[in-house]
Amino acid sequence: MTLGTNTRLGTVDIFPPADKHIYLDAASVGLSHKGGAEAISSWQNALAEQGTIAFDEQAEVECLDNLGSAAARLFNTHIDNIAIASSETVLMSSLAWAVLPSKGTNIIATEVTHPSTIYPWIRVAEQSGAEIKWVKADSNLSIDPDELENAINEDTSVVCLSHTEYGTGQTYDLKRFAAAAHKHGAILVVDATQSAGQMPIDVTGTGVDAVATSTYKWLCGPFGTGIMYVSPGLQKLNPGIIGWRSHQDMWDFQADRLVMPNNAKRYEFGTMAYGTAFGATESLNYLLGHSVAKITAHNRGISQHLIQGLKNLGADVLGPDNVADRSAIVATRFPGKASADFAKTLKEANVITSLRRDFIRFSPHLYNSIEDIDRGLAAIKAAL
Ligand SMILES: Cc1ncc(COP(=O)(O)O)c(C=O)c1O
Repeated sequence: MTLGTNTRLGTVDIFPPADKHIYLDAASVGLSHKGGAEAISSWQNALAEQGTIAFDEQAEVECLDNLGSAAARLFNTHIDNIAIASSETVLMSSLAWAVLPSKGTNIIATEVTHPSTIYPWIRVAEQSGAEIKWVKADSNLSIDPDELENAINEDTSVVCLSHTEYGTGQTYDLKRFAAAAHKHGAILVVDATQSAGQMPIDVTGTGVDAVATSTYKWLCGPFGTGIMYVSPGLQKLNPGIIGWRSHQDMWDFQADRLVMPNNAKRYEFGTMAYGTAFGATESLNYLLGHSVAKITAHNRGISQHLIQGLKNLGADVLGPDNVADRSAIVATRFPGKASADFAKTLKEANVITSLRRDFIRFSPHLYNSIEDIDRGLAAIKAAL
């Protein structure tokens, strides 16, 4: 049976709050997979009651490997190319220090990118003397992909993109920008925190050099877990953050030498809130069971319905017009209404969205249906 957009793809037994609220806020925090949340609690309780009897050294290795396997499937790669840590920012920072773009080179970023995508690169550029080259957005906050590509030149060392922009949801063609970066001897580094789980990411097919994501948005997982794909070329570098897990045999505990693994695991450096990895593994496997392509199609159907409904109500929709360049994120301004006040009004009407800068951001996901959108649009109409 093919589920239509009038049906939730993620059902309310898995995402109970989807029944209680018109929850259109995955770009801020996605609803958590119920089984994943339960796995985290039971791990924490077992640890509190039994310590290493419940969580021994083998389990400490396996919990990250299990998440690594799921992440490898998500990104269409081998587990050797995956590193796990506590967030996108941590992994991106470690990578930025590993790459350390040199003086005289430039790092390409869009001016509407998320701070966590580019701040790590700004920090290393301050250290090395590399330059950040910002690509401007138009008045609709859209980036012209041709302008983005034309900004890459022979001095470019890194093209650093949010695959999906946190504000407008504009989504870039990774294959195109990986090829453009490589043509000039640069690398393409991607923050997928707003795309992983809602848009397909094929690191093998696109040739992207690194992809990092946190798990609490479109992956329906917890805070506290980040995943990074690292291409074999970047696996030879010296990560910015290292610790006891950075040694190839981490149980060896000899501190006067450090031999790093010859794979992405060299970017895993220490302990973390390991229970979150159990939760993220559950949610990733659940999403993979549906297939991300199916989630993309579902989300596209409901977000296009939302866009049409918002336009009918006189709202301005930001971002690109071309559907292929969009994701499920819909950024809006309501003429004559202050977004900050109107976002509060919507919350009181049980329509859960986010205020970002001077616009309201809607972000439906697999647990939403067309009916949710229609209920949300009716509440907006009443509030207007
Ligand atoms: C594109 C993007 N990257 C990163 C983050 C947050 O990063 P972290 O989970 O490492 O704090 C966000 C959060 O909104 C985001 O939208």
